[in-house]
Amino acid sequence: MYEITEKERLASGLVMMQISAPQVSAKMQPGQFLIVRADDHGERIPLSVADWDGQSLTVVFQEVGVSTRKLGSLEVGEGLANLAGPLGRPSTVERYGTVAVAAGCFGIGPGYALARALLEADNRVIFVAEARDRHHLFWMDRLRRMADRLVICGQDEAGADRAADVLKEAVRSGQVDRVYALGCTFMMMECSQATRPEGVPTRVSLMPVMVDGTGMCGACRCSVGGHSTLCCVEGPEFDGHQVDWPLLINRARSYLDQETESLDLYDRENWHKARKVR
Ligand SMILES: Cc1cc2nc3c(=O)[nH]c(=O)nc-3n(C[C@H](O)[C@H](O)[C@H](O)COP(=O)(O)OP(=O)(O)OC[C@H]3O[C@@H](n4cnc5c(N)ncnc54)[C@H](O)[C@@H]3O)c2cc1C
Ligand code: FES
Repeated sequence: MYEITEKERLASGLVMMQISAPQVSAKMQPGQFLIVRADDHGERIPLSVADWDGQSLTVVFQEVGVSTRKLGSLEVGEGLANLAGPLGRPSTVERYGTVAVAAGCFGIGPGYALARALLEADNRVIFVAEARDRHHLFWMDRLRRMADRLVICGQDEAGADRAADVLKEAVRSGQVDRVYALGCTFMMMECSQATRPEGVPTRVSLMPVMVDGTGMCGACRCSVGGHSTLCCVEGPEFDGHQVDWPLLINRARSYLDQETESLDLYDRENWHKARKVR
């Protein structure tokens, strides 16, 4: 059992959880992910890691369906049935100059870990945070202290609502040498489109449906640069200008009917748990 040592509901449907897993935590690197199972009957789901300290791992997740709801219903002292990791290749971190890390919603978590590594590699880091509303922004104080500049979309003096707009202006005026985007697929696609005209290298952390996370099932197949690639072992980080975004978005919607039906059933059978969620 992997014990939950801390839990915080950051906003409606957005949960931060610290899990004790010394062996995994000791080997973790920015950009890598875990596959977890909330209980013995649960589905395996991938989650990025936002922080680690050699003993525990911190994840931030959005409750979008049954597995993330189940996970969100666990409390401190309870445990996860399984946790596998570190999985995937670590992010590419070298000295590039000025780097923009654009992160949306739960992506602010893994974006924080990546920004820290980029700073340690002697880069200047501009962190661009985007969220559906101000309640879904988290860790702003620690990001303000850490990054060379923090731009909060919708609240910055520049007034841009979207990370992609901030990036478009930054690459046009030659302010950044490299971009990373983490968050929902649509946001990463927009960021890649924003930097493509100026050709500024843009790395994205893809999130196709994954099952085993070790290259055996083929579920996470994506098309990058016209080639089929397995995101779990060759990624999750790729060149955003080379990703076939429409294919990725369509494949992510493959099981929408089944997901909706199973969430509906879960909610009917677990209405009492919803009372605990503020
Ligand atoms: C490498 C990677 C890292 C991720 N990191 C995070 C993170 O840090 N925080 C976070 O909130 N989410 C993260 N996700 C997405 C997260 O895995 C899905 O939201 C979760 O699996 C949804 O499961 P569900 O049962 O709650 O929802 P469901 O109702 O089953 O699905 C809702 C949507 O989530 C996606 N999804 C469903 N099952 C999977 C699956 N097995 N693998 C990937 N996507 C799936 C589909 O697009 C689906 O339409 C990550 C995904 C990947 C691939
Ligand atoms: S998740 Fe099975 S091959 Fe990648």
